[in-house]
Amino acid sequence: MVSASISSLYSFMFFFSLLFISVSVSSSRIIQSSDPTPTPWPHQFHSILVMNFSGSNEIINLWYDWTNGRNFNIIQKQLGGITYDCEWNNGTSFFWTSDKKCSSAQLQVGILTPNWLDGANYLGQQKIDGFLCNVWEKADFITYYEDVVTKRPVHWVFYTGRSAHVMTFEVGAVLGDEHWQAPSYCFDGTEKEDNGSDGIIESSMEGVLRSKMGGLSMYL
Ligand SMILES: *[C@@H]1O[C@H](CO)[C@@H](O)[C@H](O)[C@H]1NC(C)=O
Ligand SMILES: *[C@@H]1O[C@H](CO)[C@@H](O)[C@H](O)[C@H]1NC(C)=O
Ligand SMILES: *[C@@H]1O[C@H](CO)[C@@H](O)[C@H](O)[C@H]1NC(C)=O
Repeated sequence: MVSASISSLYSFMFFFSLLFISVSVSSSRIIQSSDPTPTPWPHQFHSILVMNFSGSNEIINLWYDWTNGRNFNIIQKQLGGITYDCEWNNGTSFFWTSDKKCSSAQLQVGILTPNWLDGANYLGQQKIDGFLCNVWEKADFITYYEDVVTKRPVHWVFYTGRSAHVMTFEVGAVLGDEHWQAPSYCFDGTEKEDNGSDGIIESSMEGVLRSKMGGLSMYL
């Protein structure tokens, strides 16, 4: 009699633990459906990015200007030259260097849209560069870290391993029109023949990747 009631107590508890498990499974589904989504990029901002690719360092001044349909990466290689990568929303990109080399590329797509991270897959929270971040992955292509509190981007890593540390994020900062104009040696036919030794061709390759990935050129 006693053993019978104990066994029914056990089955009762077993039933409840099943119930509890199924409730927690369904509540975790509910949590998943309300996963945080990446904050769209402001229509205009300036960021200083510290880039690391296999231990080779760069500083990029990124001027994102959706309002005027343009995006500018000014890339300083450590103890090296500066490369200017100016992208227009009509698909034209100009790459030029401080030593007067220039090339351009015509892509199928324009610059990144402010909501280019839409549809990214939420991976949870992680601390990076000292900031607690929400983390997403987009199309096996980029992992993106955004500060949980301020919603500012903190870090991203491309599938190539190239990573960006976001050092400043000035919302609303705009670079004056005169700085966007590609130099005359891009148009007058006197530009030096680029033989790929200084990374311009490499930048064009990034542009091709940008077409493939639907607008993700920068900082590959
Ligand atoms: C830079 O990248 C290399 C190789 O990917 C890595 O070992 C190193 O820790 C990175 N440095 C920083 C400061 O992230
Ligand atoms: C795209 O816009 C830029 C800047 O106005 C211009 O230099 C370039 O020629 C344009 N490209 C095309 C294909 O119209
Ligand atoms: C190609 O690059 C090398 C290394 O920088 C340089 O010495 C050479 O003059 C370049 N050739 C041309 C045709 O630009």
